[in-house]
Amino acid sequence: MRNAVLITFVLLVMCIASGNAQKPRLDPAHVMGANSCTECHGKEIDAWRASRHFATFKTLEDSDKANEIADLLEVDDLTSDSLCVECHFVLQKKGSKTSAISGISCESCHGAARDWIKEHNKEKISREQRKEISEKAGMIYPGNLYAVARNCFDCHIIKHEELVNKGGHPAFSKDFDLSGWLQGEVRHNFMTDAVPVKKSGTENREASPERRRMLFMMGQLLSLEYSLRAVGKATTAKAKPPGGAKAFGIQQALRAHALKGNIAKLNKQVNTAEVTAILEVVDTVVLKTKNEAQLVAAADKISVLTKKFAISHDGSKFAAIDNLIPKPHGKTFIP
Ligand code: HEC
Ligand code: HEC
Ligand code: HEC
Ligand code: HEC
Repeated sequence: MRNAVLITFVLLVMCIASGNAQKPRLDPAHVMGANSCTECHGKEIDAWRASRHFATFKTLEDSDKANEIADLLEVDDLTSDSLCVECHFVLQKKGSKTSAISGISCESCHGAARDWIKEHNKEKISREQRKEISEKAGMIYPGNLYAVARNCFDCHIIKHEELVNKGGHPAFSKDFDLSGWLQGEVRHNFMTDAVPVKKSGTENREASPERRRMLFMMGQLLSLEYSLRAVGKATTAKAKPPGGAKAFGIQQALRAHALKGNIAKLNKQVNTAEVTAILEVVDTVVLKTKNEAQLVAAADKISVLTKKFAISHDGSKFAAIDNLIPKPHGKTFIP
């Protein structure tokens, strides 16, 4: 009996301890690395290598700004057990060793591949079966717009108050919009619809107007969800981040407030039940510090509605927002 109590206590302490450690977004033991995609996705790899997602692996450590942030946060090694690995690197575990193998890569957005890499392109089974098996094993398909798009906001809206208030890190990517930021340097759209499996073509195609409208709307809704979660992490409005920016909580609250206005304007054009319901949810919250329970509950409701929005519309009826969608951000890779 005493042993059982003791074991429970030890387990509890271990859970608390590991809860505090910095966790990479992907399980390093499940990461295969971008090399495991090269054989069949050479063009996507070329496009990726021309992006800052790739470059950050080399540039971050040499950046004065990064070292300044690291000093302020007392981080010794950017590429190992630090907060930075969550968003700037992909870690892989081989044997007992875990190390950073790249910047933000294929698996950061399509899921760690260990359990789906063998199944996802099997010609012997139908495309539907491949998709079902791979998704169950953790692959994130572009067809699941909410799942693939939320990755961006996991990283591009910062939820760590100290990183901003103490380290002077940006609180988010200013002007991030899902359509423009995906159609620029991140774009990799080469597959053609051949059967039984798609084949890589040579052109890096822009997404269709309908898809861009969906991307833009989804980006606004996900931004709102993630901004509310970020405000929920704010404990003080008084901090003065190095570099002169406003406190983390204030920056995030201003962003959430602005998004609410943008989305209300967009809904005058698209007029959907989901967006109307989202605006009602956001009207009930107070954008203040130490209000996590209320803000997370609202973000959870918005998440459900945004998923519903993604599967209920295809953008064909949203032509009225075309002139509001920003142009591609950065230089598109042309093979
Ligand atoms: C939650 C995700 C996240 C974490 C954690 C994170 N970063 Fe970043 N970082 C980003 C994103 C996204 C950008 C791009 C911001 C932009 O678009 O302006 C960025 C940009 C930067 C830049 C360029 C900033 C500038 O002002 O030009 C530096 C330097 C940097 N990060 C260093 C770090 C360091 C050092 C750590 C760890 C102590 C860290 N980051 C942790 C997401 C993160
Ligand atoms: C920053 C996130 C991100 C990274 C990194 C990324 N992808 Fe993607 N990928 C996406 C998104 C989002 C889409 C869907 C785009 C759309 O529907 O407009 C996509 C679409 C695709 C497609 C289908 C597009 C087509 O050609 O039909 C393939 C294949 C693909 N990615 C493979 C890769 C490979 C291989 C890598 C690594 C070299 C990679 N991706 C890196 C986010 C990413
Ligand atoms: C794992 C974290 C992570 C994910 C997921 C992620 N990004 Fe990034 N992204 C970053 C970081 C960090 C940088 C800054 C890298 C640097 O400059 O050192 C960045 C930079 C960028 C840039 C270039 C920045 C600039 O200022 O021009 C674009 C464009 C971009 N991301 C788009 C996207 C899109 C679109 C998605 C989703 C499909 C996405 N990112 C998903 C972390 C991420
Ligand atoms: C041995 C070849 C092969 C390898 C290796 C491979 N893929 Fe693919 N991939 C394919 C084929 C073929 C398709 C088209 C599948 C279809 O038609 O169902 C595809 C499709 C995709 C798609 C788009 C799915 C869709 O139908 O929308 C993504 C995303 C993707 N691969 C990501 C990756 C990533 C990430 C890696 C590395 C971790 C990888 N693939 C490794 C052959 C491969």
